[in-house]
Amino acid sequence: MTARCLIEPGDLSTDEILHLVRLAGSIIRQPERFATRCTGKLLASLFFEPSTRTKFSFDAAMLRLGGQVIGFSDPATSSSSKGETLADTARMVESYADLIVVRHPREGAPKHIANFVNCPVINAGDGGHQHPTQTLTDLLTISAHKGRLQDLTVGVCGDLMFGRTIHSLASTLARFPGIKLLFISPEELRMPQYVKDDLAQKGVPFEESTQLESVIGRLDILYMSRVQRERFVSEEEYLRLKDYFILTKEKLSLAKSDTIVMHPLPRVNEIAADVDSDPRALYFAQARYGMFIRMALILFLLGLEKEGDLA
Ligand code: NCD
Repeated sequence: MTARCLIEPGDLSTDEILHLVRLAGSIIRQPERFATRCTGKLLASLFFEPSTRTKFSFDAAMLRLGGQVIGFSDPATSSSSKGETLADTARMVESYADLIVVRHPREGAPKHIANFVNCPVINAGDGGHQHPTQTLTDLLTISAHKGRLQDLTVGVCGDLMFGRTIHSLASTLARFPGIKLLFISPEELRMPQYVKDDLAQKGVPFEESTQLESVIGRLDILYMSRVQRERFVSEEEYLRLKDYFILTKEKLSLAKSDTIVMHPLPRVNEIAADVDSDPRALYFAQARYGMFIRMALILFLLGLEKEGDLA
């Protein structure tokens, strides 16, 4: 691995994260200034797991920068289905493309790929582990709607055990001063110990709760998440837990008037459709921010930023 990669949020310093958020803001304000910045560059997206937002927003990001995209969204159409190793697939792809985006059900697969190639590799979600570009998306959304990334009480609700977006978000928010985290989940889907140990080590206050109603009124941000069916060993257990939390209009009425509701999407049942029209519901806007922060990330990793980009 010789190029800069984004495998987990710790690969970026806090200053770099803030820089990406600012650069994305510049791109939102003046997209035309960036429209040909990646001319001649090729992004390869290798999706070994389903995706809508992450795949399309990466593709759209590269195309809106003037670059091009190759890849697959169904591994059955690639040679991995013939038994090719991940390392060999990656070596091949590197010989065609300038940047690799990979989503894989196996935790650590993007890191493994990065060991075999010299171009930047971006983790677009590895199993129930991490999803760093969703975290960048979340931070851009928070910064745009709250005007700050510090002094916030953030409730994350749902499948905290398997939700990779949650793991990346919690450990990244923990770097900012004045963050308090509330983990709201069924007993069976509590936040993994390694994330809690990291928070304790950083001195970040967190609480755990099995009830949404009793804590919702304290939150600046409510981050909902889907119960991750594909990570369950037992379908019966999934069926028992899938509707544990459902955010309804009625429950949201217990929240503050400026609490924002986020969700990485896809939503299944955990947010009722009648919440969508509430001005505090930001999840569709959040998905759009994902494209702009990925444009910023591509420029950063390919070294294509120019002086004056932040102006
Ligand atoms: C998430 C993921 O893939 O982890 N989706 C996304 O990338 N926006 C969340 C999920 O699938 O529940």
